[in-house]
Amino acid sequence: MSTDLETLRDSALADIAAAADLRALDDRRVSLLGKKGVITGRLKTLGELPADERKAAGAAINRVKQEIAEAIDTRRVALEQQAFDARIAEETVDVTLPGRGEHPGAMHPITRTRRRIEALFAARGFEIVTGPEIEDDYHNFEALNVPPDHPARAMQDTFYLDGRRLLLRTHTSPVQIRTMESRQPPIRVIAPGRVYRCDSDRTHSPMFHQVEALYVAERVTFAELRADLRGFLEAFFETELKLRFRPSYFPFTEPSAEIDIDGKSLGTGSGWMEVMGCGMVHPNVLEAAGVDSQRYTGYALGMGIERLAMLRYGVTDLRQFYNNDLRMLAQFA
Ligand code: PHE
Repeated sequence: MSTDLETLRDSALADIAAAADLRALDDRRVSLLGKKGVITGRLKTLGELPADERKAAGAAINRVKQEIAEAIDTRRVALEQQAFDARIAEETVDVTLPGRGEHPGAMHPITRTRRRIEALFAARGFEIVTGPEIEDDYHNFEALNVPPDHPARAMQDTFYLDGRRLLLRTHTSPVQIRTMESRQPPIRVIAPGRVYRCDSDRTHSPMFHQVEALYVAERVTFAELRADLRGFLEAFFETELKLRFRPSYFPFTEPSAEIDIDGKSLGTGSGWMEVMGCGMVHPNVLEAAGVDSQRYTGYALGMGIERLAMLRYGVTDLRQFYNNDLRMLAQFA
């Protein structure tokens, strides 16, 4: 091999070994073996040599070419491995790092309160029933003895759908009717669920929750209503309560009362706080639902779940239940 070719080979091999990355290596490949590369150039000059030297000279250049090509391949494999190792090192996940902290979920205070009410009534022999939130005028009003001109029917209180035929139920009382339509006394049920009224402020929300209780049998009395109510409320609040039965009016009960709790006996507010409406089921209601009002009497009551939750947990703004603020909700974990 000529010294000239040897020098070329040595410097090429040194260059290849020094290529710092794949791109630099490829630049070298092009300048050595490419169409206009140094080695290719050499092969092209073979024709200028005397005929008897061509063969040996050509073979020598081809050997160098081969050597260079192999060196490039070797270097490429090494560089690729390096690049791969670097990427792996960069993407490493340190599985020993501490976690970001998981927060266990909590039941929503309204759900919690509903379940508490359900459990307390279930323990007293009440079965849980449900009815539709989209009601018809008949079950929400007419069968409940609500006269056509009753203020509760006014547009500003009731969300009407489909003209005036359907509506979003304004209370859980229509479930009383649906229950009595489908079974005969003795009936002892509670109906929890959502109700809707066109109303919104600190203590009113357009959607809120009620629980209705209905007890119909022979000789159900107002005294029983009073006793059951006190029993329920004192179990719910886990304390003895000062209660007031305030005479009131509902078209579907007679006599009717509203129940107030003395805030002092809850240790929270002061003054009387209304918690529910109740009364003896009106004979018109029993008859409308197909129950013999001569033979059976019953009591009914309806309470707001939000109201009870506010009193139990000391929440002063009803809307806090619906803001989905974790600082509030996490306190119920
Ligand atoms: N339905 C009444 C209301 O929403 C509450 C109630 C229920 C009153 C049952 C008496 C009997 O205000």
